[in-house]
Amino acid sequence: MTPTIQYIAEVPSNIALIKYWGKVPGHEQLPTNDSLSFTLDQTSTQTLASVTDAGSFQVFYDQHQLFESDPFAKKIFSHLKFLAKELHFNRKLVIRTKNSFPSGCGIASSASGMGALTLASVAAWTQSSSLEELEDQGFYREKLARLARLGSGSACRSFWGGFVQWQTAESESLQLVKPLWPSNHWDLSDIVVIVSNKTKPVSSSSGHLTAPSSSLFRPRVAAIPERMNSLKAAIEKRDFESLGRIIEQDSTEMHGVMMSSTPPISYYLDETIEFLEWLKSKRYSEEFTAYATLDAGPNIHVICETK
Ligand code: DP6
Repeated sequence: MTPTIQYIAEVPSNIALIKYWGKVPGHEQLPTNDSLSFTLDQTSTQTLASVTDAGSFQVFYDQHQLFESDPFAKKIFSHLKFLAKELHFNRKLVIRTKNSFPSGCGIASSASGMGALTLASVAAWTQSSSLEELEDQGFYREKLARLARLGSGSACRSFWGGFVQWQTAESESLQLVKPLWPSNHWDLSDIVVIVSNKTKPVSSSSGHLTAPSSSLFRPRVAAIPERMNSLKAAIEKRDFESLGRIIEQDSTEMHGVMMSSTPPISYYLDETIEFLEWLKSKRYSEEFTAYATLDAGPNIHVICETK
């Protein structure tokens, strides 16, 4: 019997400083606006993939088998099927995945999860043990990031370290993901404050679709190019107060769009607001300088300079 070879991929998570919220209708994963994130190199997903002769994909998360009927696993199975079809690989895979951070702690696991799932699956199908071997088979980082993005948009930013911009375009194929500065350009930290570990009421994927129904959606999209330039200037100069103001504004506006969409989505809890007020009071009294940003959930990412 030939031993089963397992292909291992580890992909970090990322936190968006200017958020991706909304997709262009009729296009496969084309965002309405550019986004910019920094990669969280201490929080990652590790995924093992091995080829099997079984008739279906098998997925294990932290030793527990997941089934397609499980809402949490639906996206995983559909991405595996999509990859197999798109890349013409017929054989099924056994997937074992785990996060280096507790689940439900407010760290976007879909970015690292879809990234690692894509990388490990392609590695197993092509029997590649390194990024160089994947490249030899035509799977460049850009191509892997594109495939991951088709599973979850934010995953494409996790294929580079440091500060990464995802630029939208006229069409799906013209969009770009660009690393702008390496992580050692500026030592920032993201402290995740957990106010709830319940599953979010509405997934980001559903939220993206309702975003255009908000009257605040277009003004936000229109404001992004100038905001992006200001954020890049702040990162270039390592101007923390400007960065903080911009990221809080962008996060608050994105949540404004969510709350004013039809149907409205509200991720804030009372504890979220209480914490945000506390953080502001610390800033006003000059005890410390830190700013908040929130993804599609109630937990707060506090961004500060590591020092
Ligand atoms: C609020 O990448 O999870 O975290 O493409 O539908 O999988 P899909 O959405 P997803 O959306 C992330 C939204 C966000 C902002 C961001 O990370 O830019």
